[in-house]
Amino acid sequence: MSARVDRILIRRERIAARVAELAGQIAASYDERTERLTMVAVLSGAVIFLADLIRQIPHQMKLALITVSSYPGASTASRGPTIVRDVEGKLTGEHVLIVDDILDTGNTLRAVQEAVRRQEPASLQTAVLLRKRGKAPPDVAADFVGFDIDDVFVVGYGLDYDDLFRNYPHIATLRVASPAAALRS
Ligand code: IMP
Ligand code: MG
Repeated sequence: MSARVDRILIRRERIAARVAELAGQIAASYDERTERLTMVAVLSGAVIFLADLIRQIPHQMKLALITVSSYPGASTASRGPTIVRDVEGKLTGEHVLIVDDILDTGNTLRAVQEAVRRQEPASLQTAVLLRKRGKAPPDVAADFVGFDIDDVFVVGYGLDYDDLFRNYPHIATLRVASPAAALRS
């Protein structure tokens, strides 16, 4: 199946402005007694957001990476997440901020939040760049959300289709053409 970018939903300038706002809100949510933060970034989708966000948060921080597989193989249909690589090091007593690209069904974030909570951090907040409207149940929430979008599949700024398009600088919808459809058209 071949796929290409269809329509730009959020341009890179808007993303940059919003990420700066989020960084300000996140920094302000910790008081001056918070010595150090630990960012738990969900690979691989969160990497671009993480890089832009954390350079605008002045606190001392550690990075902890967690790998969750939500789509085994080339697919846009989630079959339930599995933590394939947990964070290295302890989160006990740390001020943890989970950073993820998108809150869709909430299954990924629920798994990550549960894994972090089991380690008893001093505090736990979550930041996502995107949230699909009306999808995640109320028990999975993000404290900081960049943009609410409709329930469409998007790529770019870290988000992928079959591991591609992560380097595309804008957030865009995708046009997927199966070889059979290409022959018919
Ligand atoms: P959830 O478990 O359904 O909330 O899905 C969350 C994960 O699935 C995200 O961390 C993304 O990696 C991926 N995902 C969900 N929606 C999209 C999308 O529209 N484009 C690309 N990846 C997505
Ligand atoms: Mg993904």
